[in-house]
Amino acid sequence: MKIIIVGAGYVGLVSSACFAELGHSVDIIDVDEDKIKIINSGKSPIFEKDLDELLAKHIHKNLNTITNYEKIAYADIIFVCIGTPPCHDGKADLSMIENASKSIGKALHNNNKYQVIAIKSTVPPGSTENLITQKVLECSVKNPINIGFVMNPEFLREGMAITDFINPDRIVIGCQDEKAAYVAESAYQGIDAPIFRTNIRTAEMIKYVSNAFLATKISFSNEIGNICKKMNIDVYDVMQGVGMDHRIGMQFLNAGAGFGGSCFPKDIAALICLAEDLYENPILLKSVSMVNKQQPLRIVELLEKRIGDLQGKRISILGLAFKANTDDIRESQSIPLIFDLMRKGADVVAYDPKAMDMMRNLIPSIQYCENLEEALEMSDACVIMTEWDEFKQLNKEFDVMKSKVIIEGRKILSIDDAEGICW
Ligand code: UGA
Repeated sequence: MKIIIVGAGYVGLVSSACFAELGHSVDIIDVDEDKIKIINSGKSPIFEKDLDELLAKHIHKNLNTITNYEKIAYADIIFVCIGTPPCHDGKADLSMIENASKSIGKALHNNNKYQVIAIKSTVPPGSTENLITQKVLECSVKNPINIGFVMNPEFLREGMAITDFINPDRIVIGCQDEKAAYVAESAYQGIDAPIFRTNIRTAEMIKYVSNAFLATKISFSNEIGNICKKMNIDVYDVMQGVGMDHRIGMQFLNAGAGFGGSCFPKDIAALICLAEDLYENPILLKSVSMVNKQQPLRIVELLEKRIGDLQGKRISILGLAFKANTDDIRESQSIPLIFDLMRKGADVVAYDPKAMDMMRNLIPSIQYCENLEEALEMSDACVIMTEWDEFKQLNKEFDVMKSKVIIEGRKILSIDDAEGICW
């Protein structure tokens, strides 16, 4: 199939590379020429496991880049992978997707070719029909009977995105008509996964609810962990016993510093706004977010309990990325932790194998260390905030600390003298 991907962000890039791997002819559109140059050199502008290899394998063969919308006229299906970042009030900002919809509409030729526009961006229910479809049709001269619309949410995890694309639990296709669904499903031929067909609004909601439910599991585990800690019970043992009930499952029950990233916090905030616009008070969703906001601050309380006043104390933060195997620091729980430590006058030093440049742009005023040893040297306490492999075996390395106070925000160490945030 001839596939066009609009947007070379994280979802667009991964989808392009994977659709190329499935044998399709893929063109990826982005207005950012610097990004396009990097992709053209067979490299990924973002750090994502196996993506460089896949791009290098397909670039200038069945994967090409473009900076304008002209080729849209010849595509079988156009996947829209434009970001929907949060506005100040938490609502999803749909301005970029609105502009992209207009550009797509203008680029469609008035021929008899049936073409499908598939939305992968996370958008509030109603947006595909009320905004995207309308803008495309308004700007297009093509006969509307030759344009199909599909909502096809993505469930890719950063750091695991290629694996998730190739081995999904399900493919959700929200559509108005059989023909559009058939075209969208054909793009996934070769992938062995159940297809869940539904209407467009439901597909839009499935994406928000999936993320909100996963985030709820995490905040639930964290709240239980906070209670367990006071009773000297290990929440990891509790959750293992609980998760063995197949109705509950083991996944996303890892208590710790809480969730970050570009998706969970944003999608929960958008869902809360959506509910409030409908005069609902989503108390559970608000609590999920509240537990998550408080969780990193508990580390500061724990540090104060262990080493007293933090003024002038050297605190080492190991891990800045919101999770391992990415350089992404968006909504990382290390950020509120660092700000709170700075407010208390602590001397913050940090180390992360991949995310230091990103954090340096956001918080330039702390010390960034070249390696673990430098970060730990003479420190009064250290906090593990990301579950990087290279932190898992740490043991003797802690001997260079002034006092061996080790707090785990992620449960990864196998030494006795570490204290968990909620275990
Ligand atoms: C999440 C979803 O898992 C994907 O299915 C979805 O497609 C994606 O958002 C998205 O909407 O684009 P992602 O944000 O990449 O993926 O990362 P996750 O692996 O889900 O982790 C999110 C956060 O939860 C991380 O900060 C992680 O440390 C934390 N987490 C995860 C926990 O604190 N405990 C757990 O048990 C699991």
